[in-house]
Amino acid sequence: MVSLSLSEFASYANKRVTSFMRSYVSSLDDDVPSLKQGLEYALLIGGKRARPLLVYATGRLFNTDDKLLDHPAAAVECVHSYSLVHDDMPEMDNDTLRRGNPTVHVKFGQAGALLIGDTLQALAFQILSDPASGIDPASCVKLINLLSHGAGYEGMCGGQQLDLEAEHKHLALEPLKLLHSKKTGALIRASVLMGARCGGERDPEVWKVLDKYSRLVGLAFQIWDDVMDVTEDSATLGKNAGSDLKEEKSTYPSLMGVDEAVRYAKKTASEAKDALLSIKGDTSILMQFADFTVSRDH
Ligand code: IPE
Ligand code: IPE
Ligand code: MG
Ligand code: MG
Ligand code: MG
Repeated sequence: MVSLSLSEFASYANKRVTSFMRSYVSSLDDDVPSLKQGLEYALLIGGKRARPLLVYATGRLFNTDDKLLDHPAAAVECVHSYSLVHDDMPEMDNDTLRRGNPTVHVKFGQAGALLIGDTLQALAFQILSDPASGIDPASCVKLINLLSHGAGYEGMCGGQQLDLEAEHKHLALEPLKLLHSKKTGALIRASVLMGARCGGERDPEVWKVLDKYSRLVGLAFQIWDDVMDVTEDSATLGKNAGSDLKEEKSTYPSLMGVDEAVRYAKKTASEAKDALLSIKGDTSILMQFADFTVSRDH
């Protein structure tokens, strides 16, 4: 079998999950049109869909039909998109540009952005627990557990709190690593493990390898995000460049300088690839994704 390139697979996964989310949102009733418009704006315009890609790629590794992966892929993208809506608000990073467009609070106001974020989070679990997914109930509960872990106290929200508390400070390497692993790594880990669980994967050894890969690739993803904040411009990023400097964030470039942060990110991505070597099956998309995290320009 000829392996797909990452860009072909990314384009397929992006179109697939976006069209699934579009029809899901459009199937909601029209009682609150302004909120529905907000959901569409925050969820359907732009975004690389990196987390859905990981759900599909890991699911396929275990020969799972893409149809069974649509609900988990959309659910993690809903949580991620909600995290961006709240992340951009004036009380957090205070940014005005996201995915090439005005941020949600600029467009819908602060109360609107709060509610759009809240609704996206609830929508994630509505989609994940929807019986139409075709996922058996026991697996469904496990997926809900994985996603809620990635989203909450031990995951993204915990990391965002640490991020805010680290403003105007110089965190040392270990606390910064913990912050990044939670705020960004946790949802990336959930994406990989949800894909594996949909494929019925329960071998503790395989699970351990995927856990390691996803933690490393998630960390590399956020270190590179920090690097791009310094090295790219807003038009390329589709979000405000220099935002971390403006808010005096604790980042890898602020801790060790850009060149060292680049080296650290690449080393972390390469360790992620090494972790996959013991897995049987075609890991080429996951391998290429690790390289992509530390070479992308947005
Ligand atoms: C940006 O995530 C925020 C982080 C967690 C680093 P992405 O780089 O995946 O943003 P989109 O979804 O493509 O817009
Ligand atoms: C965000 O980290 C992580 C989230 C949980 C949203 P950043 O604040 O660095 O993300 P960007 O750079 O605004 O996308
Ligand atoms: Mg932030
Ligand atoms: Mg931000
Ligand atoms: Mg950033």
